[in-house]
Amino acid sequence: MAGKKRVLLIIGGGIAAYKSLELIRRLREREISVRVILTAAGKNFVTPLSASSLSGDKVYEDLFSLTDEADIGHIQLSRDADLVVVAPATADLLAKAAHGLANDLASTVLLATDKKVLVAPTMNVRMWDHPATQRNISTLKADGYLFVGPNAGDMACGEFGSGRMSEPSEILLAIENALSAPAITSLSPGSLKGLKILVTSGPTREPIDPVRYLTNQSSGKQGHAIAAAAAAAGAEVVLVSGPVDIQDPTGVRVIHVETAAQMYDAVHGSLPADVFIGAAAVADWRPETLADTKIKKSAGVVASLALVENKDILASVASAGSKRPKLVIGFAAETTQVLDYGRRKLDSKGCDIIVANDVSAESGVLGGDLNTVHIIQRSGTESWPKMRKSEIASRLVDVIGSFDHGDKK
Ligand code: CTP
Repeated sequence: MAGKKRVLLIIGGGIAAYKSLELIRRLREREISVRVILTAAGKNFVTPLSASSLSGDKVYEDLFSLTDEADIGHIQLSRDADLVVVAPATADLLAKAAHGLANDLASTVLLATDKKVLVAPTMNVRMWDHPATQRNISTLKADGYLFVGPNAGDMACGEFGSGRMSEPSEILLAIENALSAPAITSLSPGSLKGLKILVTSGPTREPIDPVRYLTNQSSGKQGHAIAAAAAAAGAEVVLVSGPVDIQDPTGVRVIHVETAAQMYDAVHGSLPADVFIGAAAVADWRPETLADTKIKKSAGVVASLALVENKDILASVASAGSKRPKLVIGFAAETTQVLDYGRRKLDSKGCDIIVANDVSAESGVLGGDLNTVHIIQRSGTESWPKMRKSEIASRLVDVIGSFDHGDKK
């Protein structure tokens, strides 16, 4: 990373604030300087002295402190930073930021800054799930805020669910990604306005009999993140999703399907579109016959299953003649020779971009939150560093936005 980068860290009032002290230490180990704003609520969880000792700088607390204003104003605090990070970001801080409130130093800096803002939310799972919080998050995403977490797990309040702040190592990775991202922010709102984007996501499920099926380990996280990022950037998004355990993204029309054949029909029924993104892990085969009743085993007899190939949805969209979207993007899920197989899929499927990723068991990509991808085009290949799937989605939106889409509707 060229030059010394500077992070302005706002520590809000959450039990996870102690993790932010660890984050300061880790950032400084990486030669990233940290200046801390501690909210009044944050002071209940960590002391200004510990934040100051770790950051090696004064800790800023009050909007109207004369010494602070004489020393350095809130505008200067933001000017001096390359990135503003809010960790922990409480429901209250997110609500203030989403509504443009500015009644303390942290919220005033958030309203005044023109720098990228990365937030690491934490709160009780019910507060996280509340429509008001989800609305605020959609607003902030549309405004260009970057998010890391929250994670699911046991919470300090004794409940289980989504709302735990990401670990310092995850926030650090998100900070490094944000600091190394190109200047055009990944979520410039409206950059995809006027475009219809059709996305597939998740696995498909191919029934064998009434109680059994064939499927794969795709979680749908990457495809859903792309749909969410495209919608946040102003596109009209239709998401055709196989069976997944994650929520439908906000602002997206979702068509739920089970089998590859249903996905094929839903995709072709949703054309025309300006852009197609095939992120689903479509089952390559289905059982040749579907048994009406549960297949019974016979002792000692080796069972076998005859499979027939499913239609290739991506290839069929890419060769849809007048209905072909101008931009067709496919994924290549590989366990070896990722670039080589990825390049071959660009031609065999007839698409414009292949996003190739390593999905071997060691990579942790399937089901995980991180991914390492290579963007393969005929003009060349760009390898992106390991980053969160949501960050990949945002960058992919930038790539889509950089294409000439002719007259948008
Ligand atoms: N795909 C599709 N329909 C299929 C199979 C794959 O639309 N029946 C799409 C996927 O959504 C992805 C791309 O094709 O965008 C590549 O999928 P992948 O599983 O990597 O490759 P396959 O075509 O299945 O080839 P192989 O399994 O031999 O690697």
